[in-house]
Formats: sequence, structure tokens, C-alpha cells
Amino acid sequence: MLWITIFLVALTVVSQLHAVKYRICVVDAERKSREALKYCPMLKGNESKAECVFGNSRLDCLRMVADDEADFGVFNAEDLVVALNYKTNDFSVTHEIQFFEKEKYEYEVMTVVRKSSNITRLSQLRGKNFCHPGFGDDSNWTEIILKFFEARVVPQQCDPSLSLEENAINSSSSFFNAACKAGPWVLDPKYDEELKAKYPNLCKLCDSPQSCSTMDKYWGRVGSLYCLTDGLGDVAWGRLDDINQHFGITPGGPSNVSPDDYNFLCDDGSLAPLDKPQDCTWVAHPWQSILARRKSAEGVQKVVSLLKGTSTTSSTASAWKTGLQLILHPSSHYVLPLDTVVVPEDYLSKAPGFRSANSMHRCGNVLRMCTHTSAEHTKCNWLKRAAQVYGVEPVLSCILLHSMENCLMAVHNNLADVVVVTPEWMTIAQRKYDLKSLLYEFSRTPANMVNVAAVVKSDSPIKSLTDLRGKKACFSQFEGIGWNSVVAVFQSKSLLPAVCPYEAAIGQFFSEACVPGLNESVSSLKNMLSLCEGNTHFDEADAFKCIAIGKGDVAFVTWKTVISNTDGANNESWAATLKFGDFRSLCMDSNSDDKYCYLSWASPGQVMVHSSLTEVRAGEVYTAFKKMSVLFGPSYKGSRVSFNMFGPFNGQKNVLFNDFTEQFEDFESLSYAGRRPRNLQHMMASLKKCSVVSSGIAWTAKWLSIVAVIFHSVLI
Ligand SMILES: *[C@@H]1O[C@H](CO)[C@@H](O)[C@H](O)[C@H]1NC(C)=O
Ligand SMILES: *[C@@H]1O[C@H](CO)[C@@H](O)[C@H](O)[C@H]1NC(C)=O
Ligand SMILES: *[C@@H]1O[C@H](CO)[C@@H](O)[C@H](O)[C@H]1NC(C)=O
Ligand SMILES: *[C@@H]1O[C@H](CO)[C@@H](O)[C@H](O)[C@H]1NC(C)=O
Ligand SMILES: *[C@@H]1O[C@H](CO)[C@@H](O)[C@H](O)[C@H]1NC(C)=O
Ligand SMILES: *[C@@H]1O[C@H](CO)[C@@H](O)[C@H](O)[C@H]1NC(C)=O
Repeated sequence: MLWITIFLVALTVVSQLHAVKYRICVVDAERKSREALKYCPMLKGNESKAECVFGNSRLDCLRMVADDEADFGVFNAEDLVVALNYKTNDFSVTHEIQFFEKEKYEYEVMTVVRKSSNITRLSQLRGKNFCHPGFGDDSNWTEIILKFFEARVVPQQCDPSLSLEENAINSSSSFFNAACKAGPWVLDPKYDEELKAKYPNLCKLCDSPQSCSTMDKYWGRVGSLYCLTDGLGDVAWGRLDDINQHFGITPGGPSNVSPDDYNFLCDDGSLAPLDKPQDCTWVAHPWQSILARRKSAEGVQKVVSLLKGTSTTSSTASAWKTGLQLILHPSSHYVLPLDTVVVPEDYLSKAPGFRSANSMHRCGNVLRMCTHTSAEHTKCNWLKRAAQVYGVEPVLSCILLHSMENCLMAVHNNLADVVVVTPEWMTIAQRKYDLKSLLYEFSRTPANMVNVAAVVKSDSPIKSLTDLRGKKACFSQFEGIGWNSVVAVFQSKSLLPAVCPYEAAIGQFFSEACVPGLNESVSSLKNMLSLCEGNTHFDEADAFKCIAIGKGDVAFVTWKTVISNTDGANNESWAATLKFGDFRSLCMDSNSDDKYCYLSWASPGQVMVHSSLTEVRAGEVYTAFKKMSVLFGPSYKGSRVSFNMFGPFNGQKNVLFNDFTEQFEDFESLSYAGRRPRNLQHMMASLKKCSVVSSGIAWTAKWLSIVAVIFHSVLI
């Protein structure tokens, strides 16, 4: 018996050794790419040494390598910076993936000065004319690299009454005599215009200072070099490959430029001729690389070395090699093994300036974001690292508390700066904790928004909202989305009796209800708690259950709640047999036949801060979140997104943000023409304070009619 077990164990070990396949992480959330459909299946055969696993972004793949869900993957230098922050520093860089063989780095950025400007020390740059490539070309530079030169040479002021962005611009404006920095300085076009009007000397050298745009002759990689050699600037910031070409060191540049009139200015203040760039690089961007778990690094190196000489068109038994090669890199690239595998830190440190460029942040501002589950906290920390690498400021910092209410309180007490709030908590956040919303998650697909409906059973005699008078109602909580929708919609349709506050009016409208969170000690509202039967912690599912089991006549819940508790989606005993078709919703217009009609729709998440936050600080939060949504949201143009902020995290859905969110909108744009009517955020903002004036009129009218009746009878 024993030896059989030993034999079986040994057999398993041997067969596992034989079958070892290294898991390569492929960035493909949808599994619709060529890799997923064509190349990964080529790794299926039993002679293959690799197999695919999928991540939804490069940093998701990095996390999977760290968590032993993958063995290796292809990463950018920026991803490796994030890897440095990862707790288990358990990664090895095994290969470099080069586009040009023998180039040490993907690109190097240099400073060129005009000899006749007599600049021999960094401090002499003050008062000179500066040619900068400008902004708006994310594909060739990260913002960190674009801003590195000024971050190094310009003393940075940190006036708290100015935004971080304006502080940097103001510093450069007073340091240089003039510059050409074309293209958008900030995301918001209006703010951009304002800043450009305020600091015109930073556009003065441009061909068209008035527009100072990406269309300018002196914008872009070679634009800054023309700005220098056309005689406008004393100093330019540019890429070595472009400089070599522009100054005729390699062929292809303009003919009238003489390299003898210019020097490189090194970051220690020394000068070097243009044909001797050695040791004068300010910042070099490392090539992409293959990063592996340390434990798998040797094996990965062996497997990748097997690919040498593999043709990308062969279709023989070594199909897996072809497949893996095509997954690793386009055929025009070179995969070079490192002499010895190194930790990411050593790999990055070889590139001059790259590490220090990535550890620079100005003015030390931090944006404290409150999270209330550990998954949210972990995702927030990844977002923070990604944002930092791509130059988003202020730097995020993530705080973990244990409920939404604790987070609201933390922002209220200035222990956190920002929290993402679901619409269920919007009013409580505003009224009880003094918060205000800056941005709203938005998707163009209506079903992805929070849609609140008045749900009744299909066989109910109730046909319209008016029919609800005197009926029993189920809510998720006081001032939650269901409650707010009823207040706003019923008020606008004049369905509520003329009493105040609104809870008294709704209390008179319905015969009984469950409104958890309503003040229990107000005796006139006792009927509003009668359906709760002492249970004060309700959620949407409870409110739906309340009509499903026949306690109430109507539930004010989202369509998502109906869907997730019917047709077998919830197997708890009360829901297991419910059919979606057993329910319907009441439309605003009772003649409507819209199956999914709704009372109100709301953005699923809003970015909230303390209402007393200054305009400048609130602007920083706004900008940081907008920027992150551009870099890490679905509108990102590159193919392999570095991080997916609106996407499942670690297999969990809707962590921190909603998975279907496409972008952030501000308040005004939620009600743009073409957007659906009855946005709850707008309805609540324009809801009038409950007032008894109308009840006074009603009473007066009644009194007058009594007088009239008496008068009438007296006349008779
Ligand atoms: C895969 O393994 C099976 C049995 O383990 C073997 O019969 C078959 O020939 C192998 N296929 C290849 C392509 O090696
Ligand atoms: C640079 O130095 C030379 C020689 O000292 C001088 O003639 C020239 O005016 C200086 N140029 C500038 C821009 O200061
Ligand atoms: C730049 O900042 C300083 C200090 O905050 C301020 O006094 C000055 O007005 C700013 N410059 C402009 C052009 O606004
Ligand atoms: C960015 O880089 C790509 C590829 O190297 C190049 O085609 C493109 O022109 C560059 N953009 C600018 C503005 O130089
Ligand atoms: C509830 O109502 C009672 C009586 O009106 C009042 O004294 C109390 O402050 C209220 N509680 C809350 C939490 O609003
Ligand atoms: C309900 O579903 C879950 C997962 O879908 C399953 O694990 C569980 O056993 C089910 N419970 C019952 C009572 O069927």
C-alpha cells in the first residue's frame, strides 16, 4: 500500500517535470486579439514549453507574476518602476527587447546649447531662451521625461495659492526669458487658455505665439531643434536620435545647420561636442524587457533561447516556438538575453537619469484617497504607482477604513481628501458630512448607469405612480437612491400631499413602508418603519425581497437588483424561483410600454471632496482624476494599456470604480442635450426645500370654500 503511494507520487512528480510549461502573461482583457485567437493556441501542443495566461493590463500582468499566477511577460521600463514598489521584490529581468540592435536604450534625451550663448554652467540658463518639444504627443515621451529638464534646472516655487501646474509654469516663466512650449499645458482647454494668457513668454518663441499649439512649426520632437537652429533659442531639449539627424551626424537632417556652432550641455554643467554624446545624457529610456518570477527566471531564459533562429512562418512541430516568438515581440525586434539576470532596480539603474526622473515630485502634495475594502485598497495602491510613473500629480496615497460611512467621516474630518461615493450615499455624504462632488463616472450605455425603477409584481393592479397612493412601499434606505427618486419625481409630478418635511409627505402618501435609517423616535413616521419589522440594515436586495415575498406593493430599486435576484441569479430560497417576468416597473407616463422604464438614472460613482476645499485644491483633484482616466481608461489609444482603472481587479468586479465606466463627466455634462432625462444628481441639486406655503394656500382655499358654502346657504 505504502509503496504504491510512493510510486504514484513519484510518477506524478516525473510527469509534472516533463510537462512544465512557463506561463506567459498576455495583455488582453477581451481575449479577442491576434495573440489570444491565433498565437496562444499554437502553444497548446504537449511539446510546447509555454502557455498563455491573460491579464487586463500590463500592470495586471505584473501583479500576476508577483502572485505566481504567471511566470513571465513583456514589460515597459515604466512597469519596472512600479515593480520596484512591489513588496515581494521577487522579479528578474531576463531579456531586453530592442528595436534597433546595438542601441543601448530606446531613446536618450539631451540638452543642446548654442555656443555663442556662452552657457558654461547650469545656473547660466537663467534668463535664456528655451526650446521645448511641447506637449500632446504621449506616444513618444512620458510627461515625466518631458518635464525633467525644468524639474532639474528651474528652482520650483510652491505657492499654496496656485495649482501644482501653475506653480511649475510660473517657475519656468520667471526663470527663462522666453520659450516655445507649444501644445496643451493642462487637460482643460479653458484653463490652458488662461495659463497661456497669464504666462505669454513661454509661447513667445513659437512660430505662432498666439495659438501656441501642436500645429506649431516648433512643436514636437524636431520642432524644438528647429527652434534652436532657426536662431530663436539658446538651449533645446531633444532626443539624441533626432539631434544626430538634425545636426548631420547621421544623414537626413536639414543642410544648413552646422554642428560646430552647438554643444551638448551635460547635467553636471560640462560641455561636449555634438559628435561626442558619451556621458552627457540627461535621461535615457530603457528598452522593453522580459520580466520573470525569480524562481522561473532561469527556465524562462532557456525557453526563450530555444526560439533563436525560429522562423515566424514555419508551421511544423515547433509551432509553439513561432507562436511564442510572435507573442513576445513583432518580427522586426531583437530579443537579447542579459548576460546575467538582474533585479529590475539594477536594470533601470543602468539608464542614466531614469530612476531620478521617476522619483521627482514637486511641492510634495499628496492626494489621500479613502477606500473601504481591502480589494479597493490594493487597487488604489496599483493606481497610485501607475499614476506616479506617468507623472500624475499630486501623488495618490491610499487609506483603508472599514465602511463607506467611515470614509465619508474621514473626508469630513480632513483625514482623507477624496472618496468615490455610490449614488446610494450621495445625499448622506452631502448633508451629514459636508462633501461635494467633482466628477461623475459615466458610460454611454444606459444599462451601465444606475437606473432606479418603481417595481411592482406583474399581476399587481397598480398601473401608474398615482395608483401608489395608500399602498405599501419598500426602500433600501432613507436618502438612498430609491428614496431620493421618489422625493424628486413625486414632487415634480405634484403627487405629494402638502406637508413638510418630505418624509412626512411620503409618510402620508403611502399607508405603510420600510425606510431604514429614518428617525425612529418621530412618532408620526411610525408607519414608515412598520414593514421593516425591526430590521434596520436593509439593502437593495432586501427592498426587492420585501415585494417579492408580498410584504410591500412596490419597491424602489435599481434594475440591476431585479436582474441579480431573478431567473436563477440568486439561489437563496426567497429568490430561487423568481422570474424576471414576474415583475414590471411603473413608467412616468402610464401609457408607455417601455419594459425598462425608470424613475431616475444616476452616475454609478462620484468623486467627492470636502465642500470647503479651495478651488485650487479641488482643481488639482479634478485634474488628477481626469488625467488618470485618460491614461488608464478605455479612451487610451495605445494597444497594451498599462493599467485598467475601470476594469475588474484581481478577478473582482467593480472595485473602486465601475467596470463599465468610460470616462469622468462633470456635473453640467450629465444633462447635456441628448443625455437621458431625469438624472438623479441634477434632480437632487434642483430639488426645492420642502415648504408649507402650498399647504397654507390649500388650507386658505378650503376655508374660502367653506365660507362660500355658508354664504351661499345664507343667500338661499
Ligand atoms: C503528445 O503526447 C501523447 C501521449 O502522451 C503522444 O502520443 C503524442 O505523440 C504527443 N504528441 C506530440 C506532438 O509529441
Ligand atoms: C559671449 O562671449 C563673447 C566673448 O567673451 C562675447 O563677445 C559675446 O558677446 C558673448 N555673448 C553673449 C550672448 O553674452
Ligand atoms: C508667479 O508666482 C508669484 C508667487 O506666487 C506671484 O507673485 C506672481 O504673480 C506669479 N506670476 C504671474 C505671472 O502670475
Ligand atoms: C512619435 O514617434 C513615432 C514613432 O517613432 C513617429 O512616427 C512620430 O512622428 C513621433 N511623433 C512626433 C510628434 O514626433
Ligand atoms: C430624532 O427625532 C427626535 C425627536 O424629534 C430628535 O430629538 C432627535 O434628535 C432625532 N434624531 C436624529 C438622529 O435626528
Ligand atoms: C448557491 O450558489 C452558490 C454559487 O453559485 C453555490 O456555491 C451554493 O452551493 C448554492 N446554494 C444552494 C443552496 O444551492
